[in-house]
Amino acid sequence: MADQAQNLREFISRSQERARVVAVTSGKGGVGKSTTSVNLAIALAARGKRVILLDADLGLANVEVLLGLNSLYNLQHVIDGEKTIEQILVQGPGGIQVVPGSSGITKLADLDTEARNNVLAGLERLQEGADFVLVDTMAGIGQNAVAFAAAADEVLLVTTPEPSAIVDAYAMVKAICATRDEAAIRLMVNLVRNEQQAMAVASKLSSVAQTYLGRRLSFLGYLPRDIHVSQGVMQTYPFVLRYPNTPAAKCMEDLARRLMQRRLDVKQSSGFFRRFAETIGLANAS
Ligand SMILES: Nc1ncnc2c1ncn2[C@@H]1O[C@H](COP(=O)(O)OP(=O)(O)OP(=O)(O)O)[C@@H](O)[C@H]1O
Ligand SMILES: [Mg+2]
Repeated sequence: MADQAQNLREFISRSQERARVVAVTSGKGGVGKSTTSVNLAIALAARGKRVILLDADLGLANVEVLLGLNSLYNLQHVIDGEKTIEQILVQGPGGIQVVPGSSGITKLADLDTEARNNVLAGLERLQEGADFVLVDTMAGIGQNAVAFAAAADEVLLVTTPEPSAIVDAYAMVKAICATRDEAAIRLMVNLVRNEQQAMAVASKLSSVAQTYLGRRLSFLGYLPRDIHVSQGVMQTYPFVLRYPNTPAAKCMEDLARRLMQRRLDVKQSSGFFRRFAETIGLANAS
């Protein structure tokens, strides 16, 4: 009986909670956002979470390629009103669900009201049936990327130890904070030699953000430079599934575990996709 009551409580609280929206973003391109999004999504699903992965790199969507999927429909069909979000959702490996992106949509802000509502209302519905929505964004401080990051519940900012990637990551923090002061940003350092190097990069970036923006950035985890990661990319199959016993897969599991453990406490009055529309100034334009 006690178990049943507990299950019921869990079910009710689950169904009332919206998914946590985590935007995976970066200043510099090519630092491992998509690789991280895909494998982190699967690592979360392996821990019993309902995960939706949204390919929001509207310039060069490639989540599907990383997952070895080849779907018939994508966000463009939702934008055009031909399909609903539910109809384009595809089952990915490892129990995740994927919203396939569409290359060549340069700005959501340029869509007309109906097209934009097709997308945002659909995404908001999806948020109700999941625990996590991971958003793989495009790199850089462009309007869409910053809006996705600023509207998310949490930002996972990916950098590498390269000075140019660190400088661009800082520029991204600045842009996100300028859009939304209380944004919750955590760091993930990719392509490192070891944990010490990752922590050194994170603490350098955090102390610069503290000095100039009054913001501390917490460290969520790291991923070593590992041949299995790039092999997974080449084989269009996520490394956490293909090579589960490698140090890189363990690091991904650590990231998933830490993400699940600690929810950053940010006040959220409306849903992510409504905030997104507000952030890019569309809510008032309709
Ligand atoms: N930890 C790693 N070890 C080895 N190779 C890696 C690692 N992380 C990423 N890579 C390689 O780096 C390349 C870029 O990764 P990815 O596409 O995930 O970056 P991105 O940040 O999404 O790029 P973009 O800004 O173009 O969207 C991939 O080809 C992948 O093989
Ligand atoms: Mg990418």
